[in-house]
Amino acid sequence: MLQLYSSHMEILAVVGVCFIMWNVFSFLHFWYSMIQQYAVPCFLSRTKHIRQYGEWAIVTGATNGIGKAYAEELASHGMNIILVSRNPEKLQKVSEAIAATYKVQSRFIVADFSLGLEVYPHIKEALRNVEVGILVNNVGTFYDYPQILTDAPEDKSWEIINVNIGAAVMMTHIVLPGMVQRKRGAILNVSSATCCKPTPLMNIYASSKSFIDQFSRTLHYEYASKGIFVQSLITYLVKTNILSFSTFLKTKPLLVLEANDYARQAVRTIGISRRTGGHLSHSIQVSIIETTNMDRVQHTV
Ligand SMILES: NC(=O)c1ccc[n+]([C@@H]2O[C@H](COP(=O)([O-])OP(=O)(O)OC[C@H]3O[C@@H](n4cnc5c(N)ncnc54)[C@H](OP(=O)(O)O)[C@@H]3O)[C@@H](O)[C@H]2O)c1
Repeated sequence: MLQLYSSHMEILAVVGVCFIMWNVFSFLHFWYSMIQQYAVPCFLSRTKHIRQYGEWAIVTGATNGIGKAYAEELASHGMNIILVSRNPEKLQKVSEAIAATYKVQSRFIVADFSLGLEVYPHIKEALRNVEVGILVNNVGTFYDYPQILTDAPEDKSWEIINVNIGAAVMMTHIVLPGMVQRKRGAILNVSSATCCKPTPLMNIYASSKSFIDQFSRTLHYEYASKGIFVQSLITYLVKTNILSFSTFLKTKPLLVLEANDYARQAVRTIGISRRTGGHLSHSIQVSIIETTNMDRVQHTV
């Protein structure tokens, strides 16, 4: 009896040591990856690396928020910029400001992604002779305020699907063949921390972001060997119009980043991390969300 007890204790001790070692390894691996993504690039210029993908970068949803900040940050590294959004006046203003500030070429394409398939032939034609090096699939839309599924208008759900999912898939279809031919290119897809676990009151939005994350990760396996870098950005809170439903969130500077701070760090991770928070504080927050995910496979009622 005593012998059986001590052998059980030995097994438990081995399981305990393995558990502790696994956690220590995960902790060290996380911080190694943080240093690689956010500390090392601070001491090395990323301009040469970013420009190796090609001369032109396209950013969708580029007149405000994260998209505008991405366009400015890429232009600061010398990339020529093509902005794609729905409002011609805003596009003209942002485009002229980028060209004047960063001394790069800047163009724009007017497209309302909520209209679905009909907008893409026009975008494809506008990009016919452009060697696109970087595509930032940023455009995204949200509810007027968080609601459960059937309380939100049906057309809003459809708009979110068209804008958040349709635009990323179709824009990738347009630029990828040229990138593969040149054996270089980067596709950066802005997902969201809402992709990591069920997010009640934001169902279709969060599901669209899970799609973007899964799409990006799968695209990596399909195209990495053809010279294409694909990145999924698991973005957390950034102070933009998308958060306009909540004055509370907009006034929490420790949790909510300015768009240009976010884009500055996120652009440095291009070519380094293929699934990232994009900013040190977001990576830490997202890793906490992921480790506390209680809704795993085999979950019982
Ligand atoms: N902010 C956050 O906390 C946060 C967190 C996680 C992920 N994200 C993601 O980050 C991305 C950018 O969001 P943001 O926060 O920067 O939002 P934002 O400030 O509202 O900017 C959205 C941009 O997309 C454009 N846009 C919206 N609907 C469009 C349509 N139907 N056709 C063409 N362009 C359209 C907007 O143009 P107009 O100027 O014409 O409105 C604007 O330029 C989204 O994919 C969002 O899901 C944001």
